[in-house]
Order: sequence, then C-alpha cells, then structure tokens
Amino acid sequence: MADKNSSSKIMYLSIALAVILMAVVVPFSMSGKGKSDAISNADDVESRIAPVAKIELQAGGGAGGVKDGKTVYNTVCAGCHGAGVMGAPKMGDKGAWGGRIGQGMATLNAHAINGFKGMPARGGAASLSDDEVKAAVQYMVDGSK
Ligand code: HEC
Repeated sequence: MADKNSSSKIMYLSIALAVILMAVVVPFSMSGKGKSDAISNADDVESRIAPVAKIELQAGGGAGGVKDGKTVYNTVCAGCHGAGVMGAPKMGDKGAWGGRIGQGMATLNAHAINGFKGMPARGGAASLSDDEVKAAVQYMVDGSK
C-alpha cells in the first residue's frame, strides 16, 4: 500500500515536471528556432547578394591588364545573368536574348555600360573599362544564340 502511494506520487511528480518542462522549454526552444530561421534567411539573402559584392572587389581590385569577356562575365555579370536574378536575361537562354540581340550590339553595349532598367551600369563594377564591358556583352551574346 505504501509502495503504491509513493510510486503514484512519483508519477504525479514526473507529470508535473514534464508539464513544467514543456511550459518552459518548448516556447524557449521555439523562439530559438524562430531566431535560427531568421538567421538562416539572412544567410540566404547574404549569400545571394554576396557574389555581386565580392565580384565587384575582384574586378575593381585587379592591377593586372585588360580582362577578357569570359573573365568579366564570370566575375561580374554571372552574379545576375547566370541564374537570371531580377529578370536578367540568362546566359545561354536564346529566348530571353533573341529580342535583345535584335537591338544590335551598339544598343546592348550602351545599356551594359550606362545601365538599363534593372541592369546596373557596368554590372555595378564601376572600374571596368568600356572594352571590358563590351567583351563581356559579346561573350554573353555569343553564348546565347
Ligand atoms: C545586379 C544584377 C546584374 C549584373 C551584375 C549584370 N546585369 Fe546585365 N542585366 C541585369 C538585368 C536585370 C537586365 C534586364 C534589364 C531589363 O531589360 O529589364 C540586364 C540586361 C543586360 C543586357 C541587355 C540589355 C538590353 O538592352 O536588353 C546586357 C547586354 C547586359 N545586361 C550585360 C551585362 C554585362 C556585360 C554585365 C557584367 C559586366 C552585366 N550585365 C551584369 C542585371 C545585371
């Protein structure tokens, strides 16, 4: 009899403990989860923005000579044109490039150098020369028709 009482006391105690634990730990761990979600979202955003920022440093920092179209594309333009970020026509996407190529190289070059709607001037890498930007336009056009 005494045994039964004490074991049911222990049972009540552990239920009470479990309830307290749930009340204290669950909201805490949920807010922890919320935080880590927010952080991983911020990480996502950062990693999406990062290539453009890093790229600009690379393109701007080089003391070495003129960059060819492929290098400029890979270091600057691919940040948007590789995946089609913000509506940028994707490298290799004939449909997206067809009409644009129809405008002629002079217009494409001018838009790439001076900027055009969502397209930042020189892809945001202000240190690129006109020739480097043009070479990158040529590289994308050649790879997209
Ligand atoms: C920050 C993102 C971004 C970067 C970096 C970027 N572009 Fe663009 N680009 C765009 C977007 C967005 C468009 C589409 C603009 C529109 O037509 O609405 C575009 C369009 C273009 C076009 C077509 C313009 C036209 O007249 O249709 C060319 C050419 C171009 N980009 C060249 C380049 C080159 C060369 C680079 C690298 C030096 C580059 N872009 C880097 C976002 C970018």
